[in-house]
Amino acid sequence: MKAVVMGLGYIGLPTAAIAASKGIEVLGVDINPNVVETINQGKIHIIELELDKIVKAVVEKGYLRAGLQPVSADVFLIVVPTPFKQNHRADTAYVESATRTIIPFLKEGDLFVIESTSPVMTTEKMASVIFKERPELQDKIYIAYCPERVLPGNIIYELENNDRVIGGINPESSEKAAEFYLRFVKGVLHKTNTRTAEMCKLTENSSRDVQIAFANELSMICDKAGINVWELIELANKHPRVNILQPGSGVGGHCIAVDPWFIVSDYPEQANIIKRARETNDYKADWCANKVIEACRKFEIENEREPVVACMGLAFKPDIDDLRESPAKYITSRILSEARAEVLVIEPNIVSHKTFNLVNYAEAYQQADIIIWLVRHKEFLSIDKRNDKIELDFCGIYNE
Ligand SMILES: NC(=O)c1ccc[n+]([C@@H]2O[C@H](COP(=O)([O-])OP(=O)(O)OC[C@H]3O[C@@H](n4cnc5c(N)ncnc54)[C@H](O)[C@@H]3O)[C@@H](O)[C@H]2O)c1
Repeated sequence: MKAVVMGLGYIGLPTAAIAASKGIEVLGVDINPNVVETINQGKIHIIELELDKIVKAVVEKGYLRAGLQPVSADVFLIVVPTPFKQNHRADTAYVESATRTIIPFLKEGDLFVIESTSPVMTTEKMASVIFKERPELQDKIYIAYCPERVLPGNIIYELENNDRVIGGINPESSEKAAEFYLRFVKGVLHKTNTRTAEMCKLTENSSRDVQIAFANELSMICDKAGINVWELIELANKHPRVNILQPGSGVGGHCIAVDPWFIVSDYPEQANIIKRARETNDYKADWCANKVIEACRKFEIENEREPVVACMGLAFKPDIDDLRESPAKYITSRILSEARAEVLVIEPNIVSHKTFNLVNYAEAYQQADIIIWLVRHKEFLSIDKRNDKIELDFCGIYNE
């Protein structure tokens, strides 16, 4: 079996490598020549546990190679980015461009699968694009949508072991796609139609967003009521059927902070809770920034000097270096531009940054008058805390 994987990023490269490790002859295609060159040397351009060893092995054995153009194959996977535009609408231009690139290589019996997180009906639209250019392939090829739900840092394990949802444009397509994934996925393959599979991926991330919004809303209510929100949630979760998530400084990353908008922009009249959750989680970051600016003002009035403020963490979640859509980064930027203070920026997972002048976390803690806990990084837990600091804890640093 031969497969072409369009897009060799965080999802496409591990997928290509795992498929190749099961004896499928894979050509990975990327528009970035540096990515292609790196992979053909048996090396990788992203950080992901275990991936380097697998890529090296499959490239050496000749099962995986990379290129700038596709070739004829039995299976074509689309794993390119789907960011959103200014108006929060999904940008499916990459998916369409990758689809158009493979159209000349399609032949009867081939399987075409979109893995990129996509708005509902994208697969049907891409099927129309294909059949408009190649009407003779109507009912002669298989088309499906199969979203990815892996956790960065654990992609190799989850890629093989997670259940997958497979939505075909017809039952034969679901079946054909399931046969392909069965070669390297040990999880259960759940077959459905394209729209359900597309919505399933968006639903998973919207569900997380809504649940975090509930915790974030509680945190703001508790702040007003003088209640420790972490203690409150711990106690409420003692109820056998209650499971509230933890609040934080907002929601970030390229999935949970993005995908719900794909539902909201397509179904604005129906998607009320999903939209409010997105807004609540975005607002939480502004609420945190406003609290810090207020604390600086109070400090200056009381002490007749501007405070030194330590912003602890920039990443969008603990123990990673990823700053995409990060609320901590947003809050820090607002403090830098709006607060009357000397601001120390801390991110222990990044050595240097082109915009932020990063400071060691332990030194910053000692130096600062006001400590802003933005991300619950493990390094921060081991700092010897003092009681002469003003501390604003937005991520539960003092809670187990
Ligand atoms: N990273 C995750 O944790 C994750 C999890 C689940 C789903 N997803 C979804 O998977 C998709 C891919 O995400 P990613 O994180 O791998 O993105 P990425 O940015 O890491 O990689 C995408 C790659 O596609 C390449 N590319 C862009 N246009 C192309 C084209 N026309 N032809 C060939 N290559 C092209 C880019 O150069 C890049 O190397 C997105 O829709 C994303 O939302 C990502």
